[in-house]
Amino acid sequence: MQAKAFRIYKTGGPNVMKWESVDVPEPGSGEALIRHTAIGLNLADTYRRTGLYPMKLPNGMGNEAVGVVEAVGPGTRGVKVGDRVGYIGGTPFFDAYSEMRVAPVDALIPLPDFIDDRTAAAGLLKGITAQYLLRASYRVRKGDTILVHAAAGGVGAIMCQWANALGATVIGTVSTEDKAKFAKKNGCHHPIVVKRKGPKFAKKVRKLTDGEGCHAIYDSVGKETWEESLSSVRHRGTVISFGSASGKPPKTDIAATGAIGSPYIARCALVNYTTSRRELMSRARDLFQAMESGAVKVPVNQKYKLKDASKAHKDIEARKTTGSTVLLP
Ligand SMILES: NC(=O)c1ccc[n+]([C@@H]2O[C@H](COP(=O)([O-])OP(=O)(O)OC[C@H]3O[C@@H](n4cnc5c(N)ncnc54)[C@H](OP(=O)(O)O)[C@@H]3O)[C@@H](O)[C@H]2O)c1
Repeated sequence: MQAKAFRIYKTGGPNVMKWESVDVPEPGSGEALIRHTAIGLNLADTYRRTGLYPMKLPNGMGNEAVGVVEAVGPGTRGVKVGDRVGYIGGTPFFDAYSEMRVAPVDALIPLPDFIDDRTAAAGLLKGITAQYLLRASYRVRKGDTILVHAAAGGVGAIMCQWANALGATVIGTVSTEDKAKFAKKNGCHHPIVVKRKGPKFAKKVRKLTDGEGCHAIYDSVGKETWEESLSSVRHRGTVISFGSASGKPPKTDIAATGAIGSPYIARCALVNYTTSRRELMSRARDLFQAMESGAVKVPVNQKYKLKDASKAHKDIEARKTTGSTVLLP
């Protein structure tokens, strides 16, 4: 069988992604054939496209999609034809940017009826990321003050809503006044509009926290924010790096962190917080509960045709998007 899919043969700009007809194999044992109905766009897709996150080439693109099971391999248990499922990785081949694909059943998350396909594609990866960051990397408690960078983005908007519901005070950074309004609507109590050059937010964070600093800093921007993130944490607080939107964060001199209050510092990655099917499903269930209770509403703010994925990459890299983005086959 043939389907349309993106293939990438070399790293580079958005146009290195090629929209091609590809062969789709029959599903083997432990695999399912999925017809995609919506695909999640993640900034990390652009990191892989540019080579910032290395991946084997040639390859497909994307690791988050939602769809319907069309066939299962011999002896396969766990899903059946007609099931609505989503996935956020755990697949040996990046092939979410495709009309259909074969994926291991172990990676598939059955979707509850109350979540439509587009919302699921927009919220599964980003929502499970928000879940592990707020509930495991650092467990946010009522009364905490946290700092969320890119607060109007896909992960950021979900984190702000969820942390707010947990009883935290949320400070966020954004690049424009419009994004500040959007972040505020999504539960960020104190959005800070940062300038491209010069000091950005640490002074304001100190002021907002009566000089104490934040209990936890969630830094997905990296190069442009890391030093100030370290200056915004309270004594023995937590500083988490989980993305590199502006480039990799600079190296941290661990001995020097004794002079800034001995913070706990970690680079957190989704793959290390979904290490088994059990852990993946437990985090997914927590996300679904947060969505069903209304604590988290995934804002699906941009929709593109799948074949226009290059345009979607240009827009997210140019910081033109807010909330989540889906690609539609
Ligand atoms: N480690 C993990 O487990 C994990 C999992 C998922 C996502 N992530 C990370 O979480 C972050 C958010 O992901 P997302 O897909 O939801 O993307 P997103 O937040 O919707 O988009 C990225 C945002 O980063 C901000 N940004 C700051 N400096 C930037 C720069 N120099 N270039 C481009 N953007 C810049 C922009 O917001 P402003 O214009 O407001 O600054 C932009 O809208 C990414 O860094 C991603 O890699 C990590």
